[in-house]
Order: sequence, then structure tokens, then C-alpha cells
Amino acid sequence: MAQQTDDKKQQEQLTVCQRLNIDRTKLEKPHIANPFPYSRKLEPGKEYLFCTCGLSTQQPFCDQKECIECKFQPLKFIAKNQTMSLLCGCKRNSQKAGPYCDGSHSNLDW
Ligand code: FES
Repeated sequence: MAQQTDDKKQQEQLTVCQRLNIDRTKLEKPHIANPFPYSRKLEPGKEYLFCTCGLSTQQPFCDQKECIECKFQPLKFIAKNQTMSLLCGCKRNSQKAGPYCDGSHSNLDW
């Protein structure tokens, strides 16, 4: 039982790159964090950092760790008036959509 708890703790401490054996410096496309959007309650006027690499442990937001040395940088945005937002989980939305889901997840190239 103690061994299982230790193994679980070790797994939780691993980064997404370590768990999935991904070399972030060679990432050509963003990692698909989730094939569907994240529904999040945002605070209007508050600034957020959206994860664009797909490797953050704080999805859909950047944890400011996983994107270091990778070519995808976090996207800073200020929440608009709406409180519930669909934020892209697949990280393959168009640049024009910013952090928001634009339906691109329905055409994912796994
Ligand atoms: S989740 Fe990425 S476009 Fe919908």
C-alpha cells in the first residue's frame, strides 16, 4: 500500500513531457491537451495566460514551466464580459480565435 502511494506521488510530480516522453524543444505542433474545449468561468477584466503548447499541468492555462525552451509561448488575454467561456483544449484553433474554441477540434489530425 505504501509503495502504491509512493508511486502515485512520483507520477504526480512528473511533468507532462516526462510522463509522455516528449522533447518539448522538438515539438512541431502543439500537444493536444484535450480533444474538446474547457468550460471555464472567467473573471471579466482579469488577465490570463492561455497555454498554447498543450503541455501545461494547469490546463487550459499556462503553468509557466512546460513551455520553456519550446516554440509555443503562452497567450496573454483579458477576459471579456462573459463569465463562462469555452477555451480551446486541442490547441489547434486558429490564431484569430485567440484562446477560444473555434470548432477546429472536430478536424484533429491525431
Ligand atoms: S478545443 Fe480546440 S478548437 Fe475546440
